[in-house]
Parts: sequence; C-alpha cells; structure tokens
Amino acid sequence: MGFFPAREMAAQWAVLGLLAACLASAAKESVLNVCMDAKHHKTQPGPEGALHGQCAPWKDNACCTAETSTGAHQDQSYLYSFNWAHCRVMPDKCKWHFIQDTCLYECSPNLGPWIHQADTSWRRERILNVPLCKEDCEQWWEDCKDAVTCKENWHKGWNWTSGTNRCPRSSTCQPFKYIFPRPADLCEKIWSNSYKYTLEHRGSGRCIQMWFNRAQGNPNVAVAKYYAQNRGDASPAPWAVLLLPPALLSLL
Ligand SMILES: *[C@@H]1O[C@H](CO)[C@@H](O)[C@H](O)[C@H]1NC(C)=O
Repeated sequence: MGFFPAREMAAQWAVLGLLAACLASAAKESVLNVCMDAKHHKTQPGPEGALHGQCAPWKDNACCTAETSTGAHQDQSYLYSFNWAHCRVMPDKCKWHFIQDTCLYECSPNLGPWIHQADTSWRRERILNVPLCKEDCEQWWEDCKDAVTCKENWHKGWNWTSGTNRCPRSSTCQPFKYIFPRPADLCEKIWSNSYKYTLEHRGSGRCIQMWFNRAQGNPNVAVAKYYAQNRGDASPAPWAVLLLPPALLSLL
C-alpha cells in the first residue's frame, strides 16, 4: 500500500467512506415502509380505502387487505382460526385490544426495524421487541385483567387437533391477572416477545401506538424512522462522516 501517494490513499478512503455511508443509509431506508413476509401480508404497503372497523386508521397506507381487516374482527376467523374464548367468552372491552393488536400486526407498514426471521411453517418473518407505548400496554392489561385464559404464551403449546386452539390438558383456566401479574407480562409474553413494554408515552415519537387518530396522521412513521437511525448495529456512517471532509479537501 506504500505504493500509493498519500493523496491517492485519501481519495480512495473517501470513495470507500462515501460508499459505506450510502450502503448504511440504504440499509436503514429499507426497513421503512415495508411489509413483513408472513401469512396474510401484502408484499408492499399501499392505500386500502375499504379497511374495516378498528383497522381503518391504516387506510392511507397498509400491509393488510380489506379482507384481512374484516377477518381481524371475527371470532375464529380464517386468518388463524384462533379462538379467543378458549376458556370462556372474552369480554368485548378485552377483545377490542386483541382486534387492535391484530390490526397493527397485519396492517402496519412501520414495524420494519423489528422484523426478524421466524423459521416457522406458517411465516418466514416475525416481529420482535416492538416498543409498545406504556399506555397501550397498560390499558390492554386493565381491560383484560378479569378475562380468563389457560396459557401465558399464545403462540405455542395449544392442542390444535380439533382445528382450533384448545387448552392443553395440563393447563387450568385462570384470570389474566394471575397468568400475567403485570402489564409487561401480558404485552411481552403473550406473543413470545413480539412487543416490548416501555415507559415511553403515546405521542412521544419513541414508541409504537396500537391505535391512533388517522386524521392526525400515522405517528408510527416517525417512530420507525427514529429507531432505524438509532439502532446499535456497527454502522460505518459516523466515521465516514468524520473522514470525508478532510479527505475531500486534500483532493483540491
Ligand atoms: C387434544 O384434544 C383432543 C380432543 O379434541 C383430545 O382427545 C386429546 O387428548 C387432547 N390432547 C392433549 C395433549 O391435550
């Protein structure tokens, strides 16, 4: 490498730095406005004017179809044949949160920073540790604390032999407040860490909201952008920025 004069070295580093910065920035952009590769998601987000009920906030830009949004509101829908009433009927105020959770999962184009490989038969990708706003998690727990279930993790361990999820023999039906003593237990454990409980507040731009007022725009767009830019992965961007100006100056 001593072969090259210092000036040319600087030029080469500048080009490399620029390239690295471009690649890093492209990688960050690529987690924004995307749909995960799962059971019912569209390949690309886009407008869906006919989204149903609680999924309506995502009409302007969604990963779900109108059909999926309708399914999200039905008991034992075609989506996952999941039975909310596996112990006894789930109260409506509790079910409201599960519908909203399904709408966010199926429709949101802002979960990109938390998409991971899933390696299961029914989906290639999943979400992991989505930072849920404190109020959304606490209200979910509050409205469901007296509903009844037999399991802490609803992703696995069910008896599916009848075609729908039934409580496994070893389990007992108990109020949510015993299965999930704190709000964080509910939000984090029920879908095997799809969500992470946070102390961030709705409207802070630092947590994902399960529901929002469409008229004021989707607040999760900015949240995804923030986390895409502040992820702890080894990014070349900071040193590239420091290196570029003097390197370019030396070319002049
Ligand atoms: C699963 O449910 C079926 C009835 O639908 C029952 O015969 C079977 O014993 C159950 N298996 C377990 C492991 O609970």
